Amino acid sequence: MDKKELLAKIVEKKEYSNLPKKDVELAFSQFDKKQYLDEEKIKLTRNFLRRIYVSFSSVKLLNLKDKNAEWVLKKHRSTKERFEYYPEIYKRILLKEKTIIDLGAGVNGFSYSYFKNKIKYVATEAVGQLVDLMNFYFKRYKINAKAHHLSLFELEKTKELIKNISGSKVIFLFKVIDSLEMLEKNYSKKLLKEITPLVERIVLSFATKSLGRRFRFSARRTWIISFIEENFTILDDFELGGERYISFKSRE
Ligand SMILES: C[S@@+](CC[C@H](N)C(=O)[O-])C[C@H]1O[C@@H](n2cnc3c(N)ncnc32)[C@H](O)[C@@H]1O
Repeated sequence: MDKKELLAKIVEKKEYSNLPKKDVELAFSQFDKKQYLDEEKIKLTRNFLRRIYVSFSSVKLLNLKDKNAEWVLKKHRSTKERFEYYPEIYKRILLKEKTIIDLGAGVNGFSYSYFKNKIKYVATEAVGQLVDLMNFYFKRYKINAKAHHLSLFELEKTKELIKNISGSKVIFLFKVIDSLEMLEKNYSKKLLKEITPLVERIVLSFATKSLGRRFRFSARRTWIISFIEENFTILDDFELGGERYISFKSRE
């Protein structure tokens, strides 16, 4: 099979059918090697995509359903782990900005009711089914929010989206950097350099406990913390519910 046919085959399965083309191609390029048979390339790429995009969600989220916010938040690993801490987290990280831009949002848009004010919420997410799910919810409950099907590797489009939002903005980048680094090493640094000057603040988070397990990771993400310290001004840094949150802004 040629590359085009292999890519088409990979996305034949429902869970991969609605991922940005660019991300599928990036994942495929890691296994498009002479040592692998076509079947292996397909299998390895799908496994890799599953780890980056699909493994966090229950398959139940891939079908559009009218379920309440709590049900949805508890069907995605990241929001499930955060669920009981939402009031405390948002109380601490939300300041005066008019818009939240949640990059790689998963289903975090379903936590909208925990924002105290009627803030505008804009999400981007690579898994198309989760984008549809969030937009369905926003429309049904007339929420001032919109989700966009966009990969963070589509850097210019992401920047345009951010620039086109008027007023003060804060970016959430919750538990996403590991996924980015799996596809392209050091991409998180490039992304932060490009987007931080476009907004008032960024709040970045990562897990400090292995997902679903009680022990701490040995790797403490010192590389990203050092990078943030060297390039930006840190405003807050705390840990809650197995997740560390760092709020920072551009240097004046
Ligand atoms: C661990 S989950 C975190 C979800 C959400 N930010 C949260 O903390 O509740 C990572 C999410 O990032 C999304 N993602 C990973 N790489 C992405 C990319 N390049 N562009 C957009 N979304 C991406 C995945 O599909 C997944 O929904």
